[in-house]
Amino acid sequence: MKLYRVLQSQGFGSRKGSMVRIRAGEVAVNGVVCDDPEAEVDLSGLELTLDGLTWPYREKAYVLMHKPAGYECSHHPSHHPSVFSLLPPHLLQRGAQCVGRLDQDTTGLLLFSDDGQFIHRMISPKKSVAKVYRAVCADPVSDAMLDVLRGGVQLNDEPALIAALACDRLDTRTLRLTLAEGKYHQVKRMIGATGNRVEALHREAIGHYALPADLPPGSWCWLEPEDLKQLEQPWRSVMS
Ligand code: URA
Repeated sequence: MKLYRVLQSQGFGSRKGSMVRIRAGEVAVNGVVCDDPEAEVDLSGLELTLDGLTWPYREKAYVLMHKPAGYECSHHPSHHPSVFSLLPPHLLQRGAQCVGRLDQDTTGLLLFSDDGQFIHRMISPKKSVAKVYRAVCADPVSDAMLDVLRGGVQLNDEPALIAALACDRLDTRTLRLTLAEGKYHQVKRMIGATGNRVEALHREAIGHYALPADLPPGSWCWLEPEDLKQLEQPWRSVMS
């Protein structure tokens, strides 16, 4: 692929902007400056250096963030900063979107991608990709409450009862809840329907992929092919 097209595909500028940057000697290909926008570049193992940072070429972007509290999953946030402000601008430029949403006060695993088919597979109700949450409740988690969540609760505007795939008490006021759906405020509404209330919510995992323990809140990293497999692997009751 021609170098200016590679830059464009990775979100580093328009066709014209990429050409200008390359001609100005701002771009290195595998560590060597290349000032010819039309130079043919081998994509396998390609690394681009711009503005002092080196980026691996990615045909599609799959990114994981440890979402901190106080950020909205929106390009046009109303009361809090956007999670997109925590990503490098070229990921937005190439069209990376949130894969589902977390509330502004929810923390944990949040995915981004510019692969529309992947996003669809992850959020489609038909695919039932499991989401694992840890919720701290205002009141103690009773056995009766766990039974209700496992048996199914009636939420407004939902025709059928919605049950947790799995539900376990972790300590007096904390439970882990695995859901097949991703409905609006689902965890808060389900726990609310039992007469309790969520005080803090954290997404621990999607499918079989858990938020890496060493990724600090507000940080992001690329997902590799083996991570994607774990994300899409059908859910079995191994997380609890
Ligand atoms: N359920 C909620 O209530 N909030 C979230 O952020 C995610 C799931």
